[in-house]
Amino acid sequence: MRPSEPSPSPDAGVSLAPVLALLVLAWAAAAPMHLSAQDGVAPTPGQQVVLVTGSTSGLGREVALRMGARGAHVIVHGRNRERGMEVVEEINAGPGSARLYSADFASFEEVRTLGDAILRDYDRLDVLVNNAGFGSAPNERLVSEDGHEFRFQVNYLSPFLLTHRLLPLIRSSAPARIVNISSLAQSPIDWEDVMIEKDFSGGRAYGQSKLAQIAHTLDLHEALAGVGVMVNALHPATYMPTGMVARAGVEPRSTIDEGADAVMQLIVSDEIEGGQFFNGLRPQRAHAQAYDEDSRRRLRELSRSLTGEGAL
Ligand SMILES: NC(=O)c1ccc[n+]([C@@H]2O[C@H](COP(=O)([O-])OP(=O)(O)OC[C@H]3O[C@@H](n4cnc5c(N)ncnc54)[C@H](OP(=O)(O)O)[C@@H]3O)[C@@H](O)[C@H]2O)c1
Repeated sequence: MRPSEPSPSPDAGVSLAPVLALLVLAWAAAAPMHLSAQDGVAPTPGQQVVLVTGSTSGLGREVALRMGARGAHVIVHGRNRERGMEVVEEINAGPGSARLYSADFASFEEVRTLGDAILRDYDRLDVLVNNAGFGSAPNERLVSEDGHEFRFQVNYLSPFLLTHRLLPLIRSSAPARIVNISSLAQSPIDWEDVMIEKDFSGGRAYGQSKLAQIAHTLDLHEALAGVGVMVNALHPATYMPTGMVARAGVEPRSTIDEGADAVMQLIVSDEIEGGQFFNGLRPQRAHAQAYDEDSRRRLRELSRSLTGEGAL
């Protein structure tokens, strides 16, 4: 599903054309425009543009709403149209604006189409928040549409693909930021069995995908040194009351607000530097494998060969 543009003005005949042109101009100047729930609202010139993947629920939804409340244009993403349009509608009722794009991260084709749609529809992307994710439950080995271990693709390979597809736009929008929503749950990648065919557990698959996100964060930080794109990763908060925590049957231990505060710091604070992993609001060392040069090279090569993206 792609966002619909504001409806073109009806063909009112030659005599009404100048009046209609003036009306359209006045309408375009009124920012933000409040259209029906099924329409997205395009950004106005100069408006900050933010993509929050997985913003139809949980942490991503809260970050999208907060950015909208600050006046940004938010590209809302997810698979669930109804929940997505609720977020879009709420943002469009305030100082910001939003449009909904849908793509299943279990499909590289859908992620490529999403990236291409954003490149087509936007001339800037100030902030990319790679938030969409699938948790450790069910404790079952699932396979993506492209035949890869499901969490590795949804949580890591697809964000890798999307980020690299959008990188020219992000670079040209500098100063810009990329925030990768990772986790304290980090499991080392077994290079003999990356797709976890043996000794599978949902927790291990989730943790491996989250470690890969951090390794990619460090790679991007190094590759983008000096171009004005800040890249960080974080564990937002522990067991927030979101969809994936409910599915795991775990009692929440923190609030979505706490997690959103930590994400917002990485989006807006002038006090932080890039190339770091944060536990909430504070920098922390991630799993050792994320810093291991050989592992990072192997992960880069594998990710490039599986996604066809990633040349820097
Ligand atoms: N909850 C926690 O305590 C916690 C702790 C550490 C890290 N995190 C991380 O925080 C991020 C947000 O998770 P959450 O806790 O807010 O969970 P959530 O409520 O389950 O939200 C997950 C979001 O990701 C999207 N998503 C899931 N599978 C997708 C797929 N195949 N394709 C496209 N989008 C997909 C969902 O969209 P649809 O439903 O519309 O598909 C939804 O918007 C994740 O990266 C997670 O790993 C969470």
